[in-house]
Amino acid sequence: MKVIEKIAAMKQLRQQIAEPVGLVPTMGYLHKGHLALVKQARAENPSVVVSIFVNPTQFGHREDFRRYPCDTQRDLTLLEKEGTDIVFMPSVAEMYPEQFNSWIEVSKVTERLEGASRPGHFRGVATVVAKLFNIIEPTRAYFGQKDAQQATVIRKMVTDLNMNLKIIAVPTVREPDGLAMSSRNIYLNPQERQAALALYQSLSLAQKLWLQGERDADRIRQEMKALIQGQPLVDIEYISIADTETLDELDTVKSPSLVSIAVRIGKTRLIDNIVLE
Ligand code: PAJ
Repeated sequence: MKVIEKIAAMKQLRQQIAEPVGLVPTMGYLHKGHLALVKQARAENPSVVVSIFVNPTQFGHREDFRRYPCDTQRDLTLLEKEGTDIVFMPSVAEMYPEQFNSWIEVSKVTERLEGASRPGHFRGVATVVAKLFNIIEPTRAYFGQKDAQQATVIRKMVTDLNMNLKIIAVPTVREPDGLAMSSRNIYLNPQERQAALALYQSLSLAQKLWLQGERDADRIRQEMKALIQGQPLVDIEYISIADTETLDELDTVKSPSLVSIAVRIGKTRLIDNIVLE
């Protein structure tokens, strides 16, 4: 496994590796969710590149960029075990030199949900992902369904800007009790970790109501809300039932629909979603 820190070295190596190339963009502090993306990339491509870059431009001023967890040695050991060929790990100065002035704005699908709660977030994500695509020129890039809106935004960017690669979404990996794996879960104390189960429970409730034939989106939102409000440690930021592509909010649930939720538990912000179909 090669570990590359410079863009020029990465571009040079890119010319020498076997096609097709699978890319898994990450911010490190890897868990089984990330590794599911790496495994799928490994199964589908002779060359696998994983990027580790905590991208400052996608964090708001009051967000956790400075305290974002990091354990590079552990990440590299895990990636080596998965058979990763190349780890691209640039510095902030390498990716954003002084005078960096070009940004990618994907409109409309970024306006709601995470985009509304985190102004500027998707501008940072789209810009850094476009840079990674230009540097690594992957044939396929792998994104988690855990960040459903992110995958939608990246797909839209790739279509609108005629980028030459395929975006692949990988199902959410969960803890045995249902909590979606996230690098941010380590912020939770034991009481908060217990309370965080309300996310998955509320999504499971939505699924159950849908399977029982409920099609009134607002009734499902209300039931989810009531369940979560039973957990005093959890503050709801949004509960959404939306079209999976436009992310427009729905009155009537259809197949497929994206049910997504964002909450705060203490200082930690968590998101999760499921698709009803
Ligand atoms: P990060 O949060 O490190 O996530 C990297 C990838 O892992 C994303 O595609 C995310 O959706 C996926 N992922 C995270 N938890 C998952 C889980 N439990 N199951 C399946 N996949 C999961 O998302 C980012 O980094 C950044 O925004 C990035 C795309 C790297 C741009 O900076």
